[in-house]
Amino acid sequence: MLDAKVAELLNDQINKEFYSAYLYLDFSVYYSEQGLDGFANWYKVQAQEERDHAMLFLQYMQNNDCPVTLEAIAKPDKEFSSFADPLNAGYEHEQYVTDLIHTIYEAAAEVKDYRTMQFLDWFVKEQGEEETNASELIRKFDLFGSDPRSLYLLDSELSSRTYSAPSLTL
Ligand code: FEO
Repeated sequence: MLDAKVAELLNDQINKEFYSAYLYLDFSVYYSEQGLDGFANWYKVQAQEERDHAMLFLQYMQNNDCPVTLEAIAKPDKEFSSFADPLNAGYEHEQYVTDLIHTIYEAAAEVKDYRTMQFLDWFVKEQGEEETNASELIRKFDLFGSDPRSLYLLDSELSSRTYSAPSLTL
């Protein structure tokens, strides 16, 4: 049986990951409506990955005979006034999620829950990659976003992102 605090944080994380999926789907809708289908695709794939993260937390809890409570998913409340806004919001959001993962890790370490720590190792690495991806998007947009021709090429590049299932299986 998992420690009560660890279980509560894991359960919360299911909701946070589904919210992340919802948030990135909102970004995707925004870009689609702006005619930037490559950016829209990039965030749609990201939303799928976030859904997978939620399912991994859920499965981990079930594998450990831990009751799961699904809570309401908040409405994404972002207002965008420029193409750069979702990119910046996405990077900030990933930093926030990294903090959440680290908090669960610390709670697991405190009660010597090595199994949960090992499970979370994958997410610690994943967050590093996601922060890098998010900041690279900002860097590229800063370099090329103000020139329509370059923006078109960047959008084309982002349209090639495809979904693949997570490397972690439970
Ligand atoms: Fe599942 Fe991007 O954090």
